[in-house]
Amino acid sequence: MLEQLNEKDFGTPKRISEQEVTLEIDGMQVTVAAGTSIMRAAAEGGVNVPKLCATDSLEPFGSCRLCLVEIEGRKGYPASCTTPAEQGMKVRTQSPKLQALRKGVMELYISDHPLDCLTCAANGNCELQDMAGVTGLREVRYGYDGENHLDSKKDESNPYFTYDASKCIVCNRCVRACEETQGTYALTISGRGFESRVSPGQDQPFMNSECVSCGACVQVCPTATLQEKTVIEMGQAEHSVVTTCAYCGVGCSFKAEMKGNEVVRMVPHKDGQANEGHSCVKGRFAWGYATHKDRILKPMIRGKFTDPWKEVSWDEALDYAAAEFKRIQKKYGRDSIGGIVSSRCTNEEGYLVQKLVRTAFGNNNVDTCARVCHSPTGYGLKQTLGESAGTQTFKSVEHSDVIMVIGANPTDAHPVFASRMKKRLREGAKLIVIDPRKIELVRSPHVKAEFHLPLKPGTNVAMLSSLAHVIVTEGLMATDFIAQRCEDKAFEQWRDFIALPENSPEAMQQVTGVSAELVRGAARLFATGGNGAIYYGLGVTEHAQGSTAVMGIANLAMVTGNIGREGVGVNPLRGQNNVQGSCDIGSFPHELPGYRHVSDSTTRHLFEQAWGVEIQPEPGLRIPNMFDAALDGSFKGLYCQGEDIVQSDPNTQHVTAALASMECIVVQDIFMNETAMYAHVFLPGSSFLEKDGTFTNAERRISRVRKVMPPKAVYADWEVTVQLANRLGYRMDYAHPSEIMDEIARLTPTFHGVSFEKIDRLGSIQWPCNDEAPLGTPIMHVDQFVRGKGKFIITKYVATDEKVTRKFPLILTTGRILSQYNVGAQTRRTENVQWHEQDLLEIHPHDAEERGIRDGGWVNIQSRAGDTVLRAKLSERMQPGVVYTTFHFPESGANVITTENSDWATNCPEYKVTAVQVMPVTEPSEWQKKYTRFSKVQHELLGKAALSSVKDESIA
Ligand code: SF4
Ligand code: SF4
Ligand code: SF4
Ligand code: FES
Repeated sequence: MLEQLNEKDFGTPKRISEQEVTLEIDGMQVTVAAGTSIMRAAAEGGVNVPKLCATDSLEPFGSCRLCLVEIEGRKGYPASCTTPAEQGMKVRTQSPKLQALRKGVMELYISDHPLDCLTCAANGNCELQDMAGVTGLREVRYGYDGENHLDSKKDESNPYFTYDASKCIVCNRCVRACEETQGTYALTISGRGFESRVSPGQDQPFMNSECVSCGACVQVCPTATLQEKTVIEMGQAEHSVVTTCAYCGVGCSFKAEMKGNEVVRMVPHKDGQANEGHSCVKGRFAWGYATHKDRILKPMIRGKFTDPWKEVSWDEALDYAAAEFKRIQKKYGRDSIGGIVSSRCTNEEGYLVQKLVRTAFGNNNVDTCARVCHSPTGYGLKQTLGESAGTQTFKSVEHSDVIMVIGANPTDAHPVFASRMKKRLREGAKLIVIDPRKIELVRSPHVKAEFHLPLKPGTNVAMLSSLAHVIVTEGLMATDFIAQRCEDKAFEQWRDFIALPENSPEAMQQVTGVSAELVRGAARLFATGGNGAIYYGLGVTEHAQGSTAVMGIANLAMVTGNIGREGVGVNPLRGQNNVQGSCDIGSFPHELPGYRHVSDSTTRHLFEQAWGVEIQPEPGLRIPNMFDAALDGSFKGLYCQGEDIVQSDPNTQHVTAALASMECIVVQDIFMNETAMYAHVFLPGSSFLEKDGTFTNAERRISRVRKVMPPKAVYADWEVTVQLANRLGYRMDYAHPSEIMDEIARLTPTFHGVSFEKIDRLGSIQWPCNDEAPLGTPIMHVDQFVRGKGKFIITKYVATDEKVTRKFPLILTTGRILSQYNVGAQTRRTENVQWHEQDLLEIHPHDAEERGIRDGGWVNIQSRAGDTVLRAKLSERMQPGVVYTTFHFPESGANVITTENSDWATNCPEYKVTAVQVMPVTEPSEWQKKYTRFSKVQHELLGKAALSSVKDESIA
């Protein structure tokens, strides 16, 4: 789907109003929503008024004076960007006088601008150049060398864009983009007149300022002042293709601007329904991994994981993998092999892997990384509301009055949504943050949480129950909503339970560590403050009571009537780009596509007929069960597509021992990841730029992924799965991923109306999409819950087994950082390492002082599962007794420390609570030394010069 390189710019933002006004512009009648600017009204009518400081993603500013118009009956020449259209107005956008005025403005700009257009990076895409043309500028009376800033030094500190002050026309767009769109407030205009210039922070280089490199300023800059380095190197693109970001669950839409098969830049798509033209540093700039030299482009095999790899043809690799799987099943039985679906790959690819397991393998041993992140969301929301998914669109936050953020850090993990949320907070919505850490949202420019409840890790259920207790016992319940929409009996039982004194904030204070007064205040605000929306993340799910907490959140939404309309709802912030999709299309061992249990014979028969095989009625193995079975000797073969279980799953030593005991591990990935070091077959994967398909984001939004270049290793991932299935004796035959989606739609009621053609037509579709909702479902549970009546479920707090002791007196909790992404396989291969080149242990200064730990010093972190060594970062963001780290670098071994404790319902690991001791040290842990040796050996077995994922860092 080729798009125009430059989308139409209407100059000022769209206004929504039930009232319309009709005016005359250059003799033409135009009707627009009240509040629309004259500039936008003209553009909607097809007349483009010259402009420089206006752009339709920002509020008008009125500084350049290029957009002047004449209005009948009014004196002077008002700026069309700041003047609202009025009923009956008569406007002229062209006249000799206007032309002369605009020419005068342009003369001033050009007299202070270097005239190096032919060699300028923006040549061909420069609004200043365009306006010089539009205004008919032919001479500059003031000369060309005025006071221009030709000597100004370029700021090249940011790895992705430059700031060349000599080209700045001080239009202020960048400053406004940083404020309005991104919400970071990193830029100001310093100085006056000719001296004025854009300045990050206190005249600092971009990299030393508050800038988070979202790219919003670069996007709105009308000149080459702020310019992507790739454009400077490669020149302007010649075509563009709309696709979807392959990083997080926000699912931002981008235009891949291309020169032939090479990406010049990724520009957030204005019409993208998840991001509306905004981006973060990862999607906007960190795409270089896709063509990184570490990509493995040839299939490889080896007999044992200690043998050297041998490059082979695709045929040989696939024949070998199929023969090994057949041999293993013959020797150890049908259930001795399984597969892992990737939440990074497309829906179509995920669907094929689970189909391959259920047909060609003949069992249900299939699982996905949602096991380790949002499986409790699936379970908890299905039980209470009837559907395993979030209830809203991201846009819905624009209607929220109170926003509760629990166990999520959106500014780092879901940055584009965070910008949207911050905008609403700046407009006056109130914020409640429930998090052990003082995350950025608690206090950032123009945003301050009304309540921050810094609970102890592992006590979410206690906190949620005490919030509900206040609402129930103080008569703040939405009684009509509950009576009409929820199951009576379940509600009464829950109400009686939650009202027990043991659930009061006073009683729970001991457990949560948060004062009862704060909890009462937050509960009252949430129940009485208007539209209340809850956003939560892995800080809720990755606990022994993860599913219970999700149900507690659903209870809280129901008891306050905050479900089924704009501005409210239960909103899981999904981690990976397609984690929602991988769950939807049947990646769990107990569910067929559409969350239907394998024990349900009607569903099973539907798929049996379509697929022509018998499907096992019993759930298969979950990922942790696969590891246990491998160590027991009953699970011997694994097809692992696009997931690095060694780095991402808890208790690394347990995982590697399990993998080392297996006979055939087939890894399909773009890089030699940590899991591939234990593999016997390596099948090169394809990046998101190399294939067609769809991703489903946290809003249930299905968006197209479009191939912008041919697969570097010949095949897209879905084609490889097809070939493997065929070799295993199960016929798969698809000419294009759209046919796979057609099959999903045919077999899955919530997807009945989905097709590539419809997604292309509508831009994206939020499921359910079927006969009842042909255009999709932005908001769920509107008139009734998917399960009929909402069900309150009793959520009794049970303390985790992972308790602090004298030996392990601190609690370790883990999370992500903005610039890196999960296991880091992609972002570590980009310039994003400049922001975060190693994982650090954040520790409160008091805890550090007690242990003699200094900022930047090496510390050993020990749990009952293992130990590792990281550098310490002293941070007041932490509460005493709690330490924190990220897990983006394999050599950090963050998951060597995490334990096998897991959610009672779904086995989701309890990553967020590990009892540890932290001590200063001078050398790496034994595991790290072993890891370094093993990585080096694997590196040699690969026969490649260097793997950038392997760092040989010695500790001084
Ligand atoms: S850097 Fe660009 S957007 Fe910012 S003021 Fe200068 S010309 Fe305008
Ligand atoms: S890149 Fe983003 S955060 Fe940085 S200055 Fe520009 S708009 Fe602000
Ligand atoms: S917010 Fe997420 S989806 Fe959007 S650009 Fe960033 S990483 Fe990509
Ligand atoms: S575009 Fe209206 S004043 Fe600049």
